Amino acid sequence: MKTTDPSVIDFRKKFELHDKVIVISGSCGLIGRAFCEAAAQFGAHVVCADIPAANPEAFAEALSEKHGRKMLGFSLNVTSKQEVEALKIKVLETFGRMDGLVCGHQNKTHLKFEPFELVSEENWDTVVEVNLKGTFLLCQIIGSYMAEQGKGSIVNIPSTYSVVAPNQNLYKGTSLGCPAAYSASKGGVDALSRYLASYWASKNVRVNMITPHGVWNNHEEQFEKNFAQFSPMERLSYNHEVAPALIYLLSDASSYVTGDNMLVEGGWTVW
Ligand SMILES: NC(=O)c1ccc[n+]([C@@H]2O[C@H](COP(=O)([O-])OP(=O)(O)OC[C@H]3O[C@@H](n4cnc5c(N)ncnc54)[C@H](O)[C@@H]3O)[C@@H](O)[C@H]2O)c1
Repeated sequence: MKTTDPSVIDFRKKFELHDKVIVISGSCGLIGRAFCEAAAQFGAHVVCADIPAANPEAFAEALSEKHGRKMLGFSLNVTSKQEVEALKIKVLETFGRMDGLVCGHQNKTHLKFEPFELVSEENWDTVVEVNLKGTFLLCQIIGSYMAEQGKGSIVNIPSTYSVVAPNQNLYKGTSLGCPAAYSASKGGVDALSRYLASYWASKNVRVNMITPHGVWNNHEEQFEKNFAQFSPMERLSYNHEVAPALIYLLSDASSYVTGDNMLVEGGWTVW
């Protein structure tokens, strides 16, 4: 709205997602679940997309019952172009539109942390395929639809480890670690997101990122202790602390924001 008078603006309304159709991949994961719940609470029709084993259909059904609004669950492998195309068709059949896309899936080869010198090609390829190619396909197929419609918001999820390198001391005395393929693939997600932010800016499709960090998931005690030592806020985060950033980026509250990487990392990269 062309005005200099803020009193005519309903600022709370800017955060609403009423009737927006938001597709969320990795919907059944730790952060994905918080994304879905938050988007639903702000009024969205959420499309929960995840691998069949995660049962996104059941998750969507529970979300739909809780919020009294139509949601959709869809099983897919994000590395399959055919399956991502099928997702788009199903969402359009069900709701007739798509307003937002969140790429929240990930693969870390299930915390199998081979030393870098021994990383197998197979594990490298799996991580890069899921994290980077999966994001590419979702952006290409769903983002292109939004660009054609002349509106939409995409939120991709890179990692602190595409911004800085992992501090190897964080993992001392634990069975955890961060594979190089994860950092590399997330660096690709970051670069792809910036590219698309510029590529689709004139089509009114905004492309932003959220970078979570150290989201608590019943971690080993030693890991929590190490983490507190290196974190300015001296603690891990919670999935519900990541999701509010998503509401901002998906909604009209961020109508002039594109190409941004919102760090929800407790100041991890600030020092
Ligand atoms: N948890 C953290 O501390 C943290 C930190 C930084 C970044 N991130 C990023 O945030 C996002 C969410 O992380 P999370 O902790 O919720 O992860 P998670 O492992 O709990 O969830 C990931 C989800 O992706 C799904 N998935 C895996 N492979 C898939 C495929 N081929 N097709 C479709 N879905 C697939 C899984 O089934 C799972 O539900 C990821 O991109 C992750 O890299 C997480």
